[in-house]
Amino acid sequence: MTPLHTRFTHAFCLDTPIALAPMALASGGALAAACARAGALGLVGGGYGELPWTQREYQLALDSVALEARKRLGLGFITWKLDEDPSALEWSLNLPADQRPIAVMLSFGDPRPYAPRIARSGARLMCQVQRLTQLDHALEAGAQVIVAQGTEAGGHGATALEGRATFTLVPEIADYLARHAPQTLLLAAGGVADGRGLAAALSLGADGALVGSRLWASTESLAAPGAVAAALAARGDDTARSAVFDILRRKNWPPPYDFRALRNGLHRQWEHRIDDLRSHPQDARADYEAGVATGDFSRAHVTVGEAVGLVSDAPGAHEVIERMTLDARARLLKMSALLGS
Ligand SMILES: Cc1cc2nc3c(=O)[nH]c(=O)nc-3n(C[C@H](O)[C@H](O)[C@H](O)COP(=O)(O)O)c2cc1C
Repeated sequence: MTPLHTRFTHAFCLDTPIALAPMALASGGALAAACARAGALGLVGGGYGELPWTQREYQLALDSVALEARKRLGLGFITWKLDEDPSALEWSLNLPADQRPIAVMLSFGDPRPYAPRIARSGARLMCQVQRLTQLDHALEAGAQVIVAQGTEAGGHGATALEGRATFTLVPEIADYLARHAPQTLLLAAGGVADGRGLAAALSLGADGALVGSRLWASTESLAAPGAVAAALAARGDDTARSAVFDILRRKNWPPPYDFRALRNGLHRQWEHRIDDLRSHPQDARADYEAGVATGDFSRAHVTVGEAVGLVSDAPGAHEVIERMTLDARARLLKMSALLGS
């Protein structure tokens, strides 16, 4: 593959400025390894931090790549979950040096309690933020990479009240970092699913992009085939951000976060009655659980962002990354050619 280099690729020995988002229960070892082999950063979705899942999937990633590509493997965790159980993070940082994650990404909570331990292990700290107000904690923690997540993103992110769109959040954070922490790298997250999005992220001042939904729909993803089929038939209009699926799944997410997924039948049934759902969730939960058990995605959740409207197939991760990189290069070249005319 013809590489596309930025400060991020130089710092992490990558061929393309793409990082696989650590997507809980989707970014397993096979997907992270495929991304690392393709020259991107492969972050296993430690997600809720379950130790056996993390051990199995991270070990699979290590076993699936050559030694050189191990340097492109890392892990992501949901920070407020680590406050309850940090054992998966501890396990990964205690691995032999050549197996330790090159990077640990923390999202949704205060990264400072975990930063010294991560730094001592030699792993780099990446912090996903949704607002400028979260930057000071991330920089105080010594984050080498800030991931600026807009509300377009699939999965958890900031609520409509608190959240920001990728298109304005990224350049504003880029300006802030240029003034206060110029060595700190910046990735854009939320809505980057093709070469246009990657080129736009770079134009907005990011050093690369963290890609979730696009790589969720790939051969190596752990996403259920029925969920992927539902996503491939959907458009960007078909997702919504709310607390519905967190309530149905008994996930106690703290404010200011909620969850973007396909706005399926069960979501529509409850989206205007969130308080009722919170106080009397039993029937809706039974409906949801039956949907999960039978693979009925009009009731079970399908976790994707607005970028789902740009996703029409589920090829191997290598192909996804190659297409995005080549297209971004071509678009950046085309834009620079405008200057000559
Ligand atoms: C299926 C799915 C699961 C996710 N799980 C996590 C997670 O466990 N931890 C996390 O930090 N972010 C998670 N995210 C959010 C991603 O880190 C990232 O911000 C998002 O995918 C970027 O937007 P995009 O989906 O438009 O590419 C998830 C996203 C998706 C689509």
